[in-house]
Amino acid sequence: MKGLILAGGKGTRLYPLTYTRAKQLIPVANEPVLFRVIRAIRDAGIKEIGIVIGDTGAEIRDAVGDGSLWGVDITFIVQEFPAGLAHAVKISEEFLGNDRFVMFLGDNVIQGGVSSLIEQFAKSQWDSQIVLTKVPDPQHFGVAELHSDGSIKQLIEKPNNPPSDLALVGIYMFDNSIINAVNSIEPSARGELEITDAIQWLVTNGHAVHPYVHTGWWIDTGKPLDMLTANGHVLDEIEHEISVDSGIDDQSEIGRSVTIQDGAKVINSTIRGPSIIGENTIIDNAYVGPYTSIYHDCIIRNSEIEHSIMLENSHISGVSTRIIDSMIGRNAIVGHTSKRPKALKMNLGDYSNFWIP
Ligand code: TTP
Repeated sequence: MKGLILAGGKGTRLYPLTYTRAKQLIPVANEPVLFRVIRAIRDAGIKEIGIVIGDTGAEIRDAVGDGSLWGVDITFIVQEFPAGLAHAVKISEEFLGNDRFVMFLGDNVIQGGVSSLIEQFAKSQWDSQIVLTKVPDPQHFGVAELHSDGSIKQLIEKPNNPPSDLALVGIYMFDNSIINAVNSIEPSARGELEITDAIQWLVTNGHAVHPYVHTGWWIDTGKPLDMLTANGHVLDEIEHEISVDSGIDDQSEIGRSVTIQDGAKVINSTIRGPSIIGENTIIDNAYVGPYTSIYHDCIIRNSEIEHSIMLENSHISGVSTRIIDSMIGRNAIVGHTSKRPKALKMNLGDYSNFWIP
């Protein structure tokens, strides 16, 4: 089997972070979402992985390299325009050849342990296996309606009146009959070649599509709050560890389920888990609360933060109000000034959000 990861697209819903960074490279629990996806495919025993890239391709190539970090071979496939998930399959035809493959959306985070599902498909006679999960707002997803025996009746993309609450999760398994399907369908009303329509084409044309209903968590990290939710789930799931190369002074209190990475320093501070402190980050006279990921080379001084993600090389210092539910981009500075006039001063990027209590 091969792997195909879709990492093109625009990521408009994560502006401003995705103006300057591919959304698939935003870390949860200090690991880019895309790297988790590569690991999940590698753990299922797959060595050949294609990654579909778009405008942010150069950054993704740089970060992923040739795949040797994970012991896999990576082929990059350039998609000129994000014309839909089925379009991404269409342009990957040469890479895929006649092999069965698993396709992952590069910005989805799913509970660990999907290897057995992929292995089961590899051994099966099915032409496709799709993963479904119950969601409260099915009108925003590709939705599956099942017959009473559990087989697929129909699939519809973002229906106004959803026939069920079972949404398609961003993992799909196919044999090469999907190539016929993506070459046979027409663009949808929003102008994209929809993977939901391609799978419906398989069902209509008598191919065996097996639905698997996933009961664990799954997050499509489209919006900032989704990133925080995914971060929380992953922090709950990973095994935490304190690096012997970190430095924690006697005045500091480190709770359970805390990871402290190489070179980080914790001085006179309290850290409650689950949380993670990145390489060479300094936490000084500060509080880091549960469900927080602080990435590499950050400084938090005389401040408090919880349920947040902070990206690399950002600084928070002297902020007297606790920061919560926040995403802080790279090289950002959140600080305090004692100069008059006593006022808020900001230098916010386009589409930034800022809330004052
Ligand atoms: P989406 O979240 O559907 O699209 P997007 O990335 O453009 O996001 P937004 O709606 O915020 O603008 O994409 C799901 C994943 O598939 C994501 O990793 C991007 C990738 N993708 C492609 O590689 N090619 C495409 O043509 C599309 C639509 C998405």
